[in-house]
Amino acid sequence: SGRKIIVTSGPTHEPIDPVRYIANRSSGKQGHAIAAALAKLGADVRLVSGPVAIPDPLGVTVTHVDTARQMLAAVEALLPADAAVMVAAVADWRTETAAGEKIKKQPGKGAPVLPMTENPDILANVGHHAMRPQLVIGFAAETERVVEQAKKKLQTKRCDWIVANDVSPATGTFGGDNNLVHLISAAGVEDWPKLSKREVAERLAASGAEDSGGTAERFDVMAGVPTSRFPGGTLLRWPGLVAGMLFYSLRDRIG
Ligand code: C5P
Repeated sequence: SGRKIIVTSGPTHEPIDPVRYIANRSSGKQGHAIAAALAKLGADVRLVSGPVAIPDPLGVTVTHVDTARQMLAAVEALLPADAAVMVAAVADWRTETAAGEKIKKQPGKGAPVLPMTENPDILANVGHHAMRPQLVIGFAAETERVVEQAKKKLQTKRCDWIVANDVSPATGTFGGDNNLVHLISAAGVEDWPKLSKREVAERLAASGAEDSGGTAERFDVMAGVPTSRFPGGTLLRWPGLVAGMLFYSLRDRIG
């Protein structure tokens, strides 16, 4: 059976009142593509998706949520897992309270003041969790100093890799089908060429290894694919332990 992998995707919606919300821009295309690519490799993919306009990927178990707090609860309920890929664009803040009725315009009184409070950081929670998956991958959408900022997140959120993407308006990443990313790990920075979101997903699912040398072990951790296709497959058929050891011994050298 495949490895259990949690993927988050899409935005979260934080209600202001019954008709208004705070959200980040996110189509869910990249997260859903990653879930689909991992499922294609044989992983047991559990997608936790915020509100998106695209269909559930095939072969994936999906939990639909609205808010960051619901997303965190859904992710924690799915632990333990072998890997987590957190692609969702979670709203950093929500209003302290959501009004029960639609907030009315009050002529002459100006705009309402909405006290805000911080949302939980789902990736950081998973990275520091007692049941932390063996492989934790975060995304970082930045408009400037992309790599530098992503490196910081490796530490603060305790993840193994950060996939940093440049979302400055000129790149057309938002809502578009292409993505320009850098894969950042303790081992260093890999600059990927401009690829479709599907290609980014497939390449990430294959763990970015371009030579077959490291591919087998990383594939196995990410997806639990039949390993007979790979050199060393016999060894890797021993579930969990051997693959995990190989993964850890190789992890810092590849990337
Ligand atoms: O700090 P920043 O929002 O740029 O970090 C992005 C990464 O952290 C993404 O992987 C995103 O899914 C995750 N994240 C999260 N919960 C938050 C904010 C970000 O899981 N509240």
